[in-house]
Amino acid sequence: MSVESKVRAVTTSALAEMKARGEKISMLTSYDYTMAKIVDGAGIDIILVGDSAANVMAGYSTTLPITLDEMIYHAKSVVRGSERAFVVVDMPFGTCSGDERVALESAIRIMKETGADGVKIEGGEEMLPSIKKIIAAGIPVMGHLGLTPQSIHQLGGYGLRAKEDAEAEKLLRDARLLDEAGCFAMVMEKIPASLAARVTREVKMPTIGIGAGAECDGQVLVVHDMLGMNKGFKPKFLRRYADLHTVMTEAVEHYISDVREGSYPNADEQWQ
Ligand code: KIV
Repeated sequence: MSVESKVRAVTTSALAEMKARGEKISMLTSYDYTMAKIVDGAGIDIILVGDSAANVMAGYSTTLPITLDEMIYHAKSVVRGSERAFVVVDMPFGTCSGDERVALESAIRIMKETGADGVKIEGGEEMLPSIKKIIAAGIPVMGHLGLTPQSIHQLGGYGLRAKEDAEAEKLLRDARLLDEAGCFAMVMEKIPASLAARVTREVKMPTIGIGAGAECDGQVLVVHDMLGMNKGFKPKFLRRYADLHTVMTEAVEHYISDVREGSYPNADEQWQ
């Protein structure tokens, strides 16, 4: 079933103009209506419906298990909660690594069923046939290089990528290929800041960093991490802007104690 599709204030050309003007681009994840309303209302440029939903919403230890149907469910909720931001949806693991027609069909389902503005695909040269086919169908594609969590079993861990010359050269080559293919932007995750700065200078498309230093054209974080909802997760690049874990835990404890001692509900909170 298709949903109404609208053009938002932040478009691919608005993002390109921001890069040209040297204006930084802000991006955060969201996976549900209420969070999207807050993030969009605060004025974010891009909302990513990330497959990190597998971790923060579903509790899986990797992003691999989340399905296309589950991503579509999250994306529909986010689109309903956002007015202004460009909404981009992760293509889940497995949708882009084989037959390009499967990739295109999956991207078309995301666009038709959610009303989102584009898709994000992890990987470089090996994903080009799928990326080109999706772009040729008129769907904006955001690339994602460096640490690509969908390849975690191949990478062997979540450490810094492209420290060695060979991997840095491949990343640079992949970035140029994605740029030439017409990606409207690209995430670079957990790579040295000097490499991210070089890529950012060399490509036309805006680069969005996460653990990739200050020279990227924009920055992205997982919203649950920057709000301090995940107590244990504290990588070097993460700045916590709130301690919602403590705020929420204290609120729930307060509620439990009010219920137990009979002070909730009080006379004003009920009908006689
Ligand atoms: O899924 C996700 O949240 C992401 C960001 C970390 C960029 O891909």
